[in-house]
Amino acid sequence: MSAPESFPADLYQTLADFQQTHLLKWWNDLNDTEQSQLLTQLQAINFAQIQRLYAPGETAQKSESPAQKAERATRPATVVRLEERNTSPAKSEKATEQGRKLLEAGRVGAILVAGGQGSRLGFSHPKGMYPIGPVKQTSLFQILVEQLRARARQAGKPISYFIMTSDATHDETVDYFQQHQNFGMSSDDLHFFKQGTMPAVDAESGQILLEEKKRIAVSPDGHGGMLAALKNNGMFDVMREKGIDTLYYHQVDNPTAIVCDPEFLGYHQNAQADVSVKVVSKRSPDEKMGIVCDVDQKTQIIEYSDLPDDIAAQTDDDGNLLHWAGSTAIHIFNRDFLEQIANDDARLPFHQANKKVPHIDESGRQVTPEVPNAIKFERFIFDVLPEAETVLVYEIDRSREFNPVKNAEGQDSPQTAHEALNRIFSGWLQSCGVTLPADATVEISPLFAVDETELKQKISADAQFTSPLYLGE
Ligand code: UD1
Repeated sequence: MSAPESFPADLYQTLADFQQTHLLKWWNDLNDTEQSQLLTQLQAINFAQIQRLYAPGETAQKSESPAQKAERATRPATVVRLEERNTSPAKSEKATEQGRKLLEAGRVGAILVAGGQGSRLGFSHPKGMYPIGPVKQTSLFQILVEQLRARARQAGKPISYFIMTSDATHDETVDYFQQHQNFGMSSDDLHFFKQGTMPAVDAESGQILLEEKKRIAVSPDGHGGMLAALKNNGMFDVMREKGIDTLYYHQVDNPTAIVCDPEFLGYHQNAQADVSVKVVSKRSPDEKMGIVCDVDQKTQIIEYSDLPDDIAAQTDDDGNLLHWAGSTAIHIFNRDFLEQIANDDARLPFHQANKKVPHIDESGRQVTPEVPNAIKFERFIFDVLPEAETVLVYEIDRSREFNPVKNAEGQDSPQTAHEALNRIFSGWLQSCGVTLPADATVEISPLFAVDETELKQKISADAQFTSPLYLGE
């Protein structure tokens, strides 16, 4: 095939060098707008990188797979265990005080990764819009934003929220926030930034797939794409200008995450860690959680999909899971540390996933595969861990802090998250001395009380409530 007349010659040469000229097969059938859209997509692709990822050369082939690494994995050498914190309240109080000071100094920003849709829940919108509050059906986004506002109010300093979206979620998310006046957040403190994409390649040939004659099949580049997205959208500059050096990272699917938890911030600072991670004991060997472990004295996370079943099931002499420490994907990162890695793109590896990717074939016919036909490439943000000098591993109370919404039914579903919120809020009220009916439904906005201590300052033990009960701003 020769270069179409209206196509840039140098880019054509690149396509030819990497055996990807099939992407222009229908170029002459496209109108001006379609040509320009396809050209923009092509210009954004790093063809050498795609070739390297699909067909790694000598050196890469010799590098170890995560499954091989897992064979040498041991428990993380140092973990701040929950029991230890419960039995040494003075240490926890000191850490909380330190964390508060960081917040009061305006040094903390929060990052929310919200590039995913609610498809597994049968919800065709950004997952953050999913209604989860037990009484008011408050969305995941609103619950998290209100927590951030409540923490900022406590600290007497705004906390900036950096929200990562994807092609699939960006416009709807931004509109949703606008329609709700940003849930009360000042737009000066709210920064949306969009992650990038990676093309999908045919698993047999390595050729990039066309979704349509005018469009390349792409998918989000994983939450590890956050580093490039922060950098390319000038977010590190914004952070620097605002004096933010500590980043509290969390996922959109967990409404009980304690956003900007002062105690965790304090422990992170005390440990002089580059990265910290909150862990819980895995429910079972096959629970879909990345495990936090040490490999060659480096603390890291091996994703559940990379962990062989027999290793996941290993136990110690007492019959406890060897790899008990499941990552909740709640982290604290030092900005400097993330920025260094963002400036050296090759440091964060790509993972490959075999997926069914609809596409058009060489005759232009639509193909809807029934078995995986393509490779998608994505990066995981937790792959920065082995790059850190110091990683703090910190165990939390699962029932209080880790109740994600992942599946439509069963474990980690809207129902379990709903029940968890209700249980947590009812528990706070009971500890204030309030008597509630056994089947009470309760929702407390973080703007009314962000935790039990704040609630105690607002509620007297003889307060009378009826169910359903919503305590809002
Ligand atoms: C994730 C973690 C797992 C951890 C578990 C805890 C990964 C790969 N695995 O699993 O180690 O134990 O959470 O709940 O993250 N996202 C983006 N862009 C993307 C991909 C994901 O923003 O390209 C966001 C999603 O919106 C979501 C989060 O990242 O907030 C997690 O993604 P998901 O693919 O649902 O991971 P899990 O399988 O739940």
